[in-house]
Amino acid sequence: MKKVLITGSSSGIGKATAELFLKNEVPVVGIARQHKKFIHTSKLYKPIEADLSLIESLPKLITTILKEHPDIDIFISNAGNGEFQSIENFSANQIQNFLNLNLISHITLCRFIVSHMKSKKNGNIFFIGSESGLTGKKKATLYSAAKFGLRGFCQALRDEVASSGVRVCLLNPGFVRTPFFEHLNFEPHELERNAIEPTDIAKIIFDLLHTRFGTNIDEVNLSPTTKSINFKNKKNDN
Ligand SMILES: NC(=O)c1ccc[n+]([C@@H]2O[C@H](COP(=O)([O-])OP(=O)(O)OC[C@H]3O[C@@H](n4cnc5c(N)ncnc54)[C@H](OP(=O)(O)O)[C@@H]3O)[C@@H](O)[C@H]2O)c1
Repeated sequence: MKKVLITGSSSGIGKATAELFLKNEVPVVGIARQHKKFIHTSKLYKPIEADLSLIESLPKLITTILKEHPDIDIFISNAGNGEFQSIENFSANQIQNFLNLNLISHITLCRFIVSHMKSKKNGNIFFIGSESGLTGKKKATLYSAAKFGLRGFCQALRDEVASSGVRVCLLNPGFVRTPFFEHLNFEPHELERNAIEPTDIAKIIFDLLHTRFGTNIDEVNLSPTTKSINFKNKKNDN
């Protein structure tokens, strides 16, 4: 493990993962818009401010990062958000912006990272998918479209890069207790067993990196032990 690039490193799963790598003295390059949510004093942490929904800016962004950090050998493609509404509540622009962040940015960054890793014949890529990439449910049309898309991309990519020394893994969590729910009208019930902790996901990623390189863990599906939801606004709970 030389250096890890994490998108969405300022909060939730990305932040917990960055903290675990830093604790183990693995240097981290983190991308997010608002790094003030996670100020780390470690010299091993390099925060980069960028809005990943601005797709046209990504080729330059990632090319510069890879030039400055050619030792990146782990990529955690994690940044994302959730919007849960009936489909007719979204404007065409909102649909485009949502898919830009939650699907197209992952594919675009990966396009450049794969070339880099293939040239080094070494790399590990993790995508943070979701249980919504396994089953579609009402009000999750856009979220499921992005996560199913990510899953298809991930499967095909794994096949494409398998002989180049690059492993590809997708994690599909159910509810994780993070600020993801701050702007939503629901959240996991406060009982501990109703949500995965972001540190659990960080640990799984770290453990997977220690498996023998000849074994690829394709997908990991994980759920809270029980599922109970709190609705913040009772009118919107069905
Ligand atoms: N929480 C769950 O229940 C759950 C379940 C399954 C899957 N997931 C997936 O896990 C991933 C991480 O979510 P989380 O739960 O950790 O949520 P979170 O705490 O809200 O973190 C989201 C991260 O993404 C970054 N981000 C959002 N929009 C961005 C943009 N336009 N440009 C750059 N960075 C952006 C945020 O940074 P800034 O705001 O600073 O830009 C933040 O660091 C997402 O892909 C989500 O779909 C979450």
